[in-house]
Amino acid sequence: MKYDVLLIGSGGREHAMAWKLVQSPLMGNFYCAPGNAGISKVAECAEIDITDHSAIINFCNSKKIDFVIIGPEAPLVAGIVDDMASAGIKAFGPSAGAAQLEGSKAFTHEICDLYDVPAASYAKFNNGPKAKAYIRGAELPLVIKADGLAAGKGVVIAFNQNDALEAVDACFEGDFGEAGNQVVIEEYLVGEEVSLFAICDGQVASLIGTAQDHKQVYDGDQGPNTGGMGAYSPASIVDQETINEIMGEIIVPTLAGMHARGTPFKGILFAGLMLCEDGPKLIEYNVRFGDPECQVLMMRLRSDLLELMLTAADGSLLEHEIEWSDFSALGVVLATEGYPGSYRNGTAIGGTLDYEDADNVIIFHAGTRYDGEQLVANGGRVLNVCAKGRSVREAQQLAYAAIDRIDWPQGFCRKDIGWREVEREND
Ligand code: AMP
Ligand code: GLY
Repeated sequence: MKYDVLLIGSGGREHAMAWKLVQSPLMGNFYCAPGNAGISKVAECAEIDITDHSAIINFCNSKKIDFVIIGPEAPLVAGIVDDMASAGIKAFGPSAGAAQLEGSKAFTHEICDLYDVPAASYAKFNNGPKAKAYIRGAELPLVIKADGLAAGKGVVIAFNQNDALEAVDACFEGDFGEAGNQVVIEEYLVGEEVSLFAICDGQVASLIGTAQDHKQVYDGDQGPNTGGMGAYSPASIVDQETINEIMGEIIVPTLAGMHARGTPFKGILFAGLMLCEDGPKLIEYNVRFGDPECQVLMMRLRSDLLELMLTAADGSLLEHEIEWSDFSALGVVLATEGYPGSYRNGTAIGGTLDYEDADNVIIFHAGTRYDGEQLVANGGRVLNVCAKGRSVREAQQLAYAAIDRIDWPQGFCRKDIGWREVEREND
């Protein structure tokens, strides 16, 4: 059987998913809403407002879509999978109830408390005065978080009391909209940060891979946070023993807890973790692939992604072994000058076609579109230049060599993606 598939999203993550999905012999007609210039080479892109669930359902009915795959978190938290189910359309991703693992940091802490998942100690407040009184009596540093979805901007690490108090004010003064109606204040965890991705079918979780990303905009992890400036996989600091520990003490109990409360988790569970002296601790869950982590995971995944997602949606993941290539993969984000602040769209990009048929270098598109024949920038993060090699260092060299051939004066990238792993490899 072949499946007609609709993918929702428009980033580098979705281009990488699309690239992998079309390799499946199960793929029939393939659509993406809204997509980008890169995705338009492998899927038919449809200009649909993805916050309008009835428009998506109408599109699915008109194209007889068999399976919908959702890339970003916002539609998941807004209940797109529930709405698809009510319309009789199979979809990959968690229900709104299960997407609370990303939609509310307080919810995730409650699950961690109930099921003994190691995480930072915390307190939550629904008003400023109480949160501030707590801060005045607590040890620094503290991590102040808006409870809800804030597009990666709702977290402040406060090393002094003033910053902590200001972060609380920012939340309750509405800087993050409804996401800031509740504030979570956490203990500051010390260690190295890594990510682990599992595909889940409601009861069973299978490892998809580990990765490390680079959140700050400038070399040496300096400057403001971004969605992620680059990533590599696997993260060798997460050895097999640590993977077993994370799966056994964090992922599996979370999945069991979500099942027990009647909101089984189906989809990609992305655990942001701190490797602390006393073991791995959960920093946060996301309920979808990371961007740019997905790009490097897709380069390494050997198994059929579409088949895995169909199986997870059906609740029968146990029957599947997941296979990866032994290669390392590394991806560098090219962003528009000004990002993560304001930037100008529409600048012309040349030189990306050299790699269309390359085996070890792939250029995934994020914010791009075609202006006639010309590829132009259409967002902050624009391209992801990904390479695979026998080591992260080799992948890094290949990726930067490819970037040297891209002609885009208004673009910039970090020059040190993968530095932690390269240092480890050199040791
Ligand atoms: P989050 O949006 O929760 O992932 O937080 C954004 C970033 O803040 C994380 O990737 C960490 O680098 C950092 N962070 C969040 N919570 C903590 C914590 N409790 N201790 C130390 N760093 C944290
Ligand atoms: N790169 C982090 C994220 O996708 O949330």
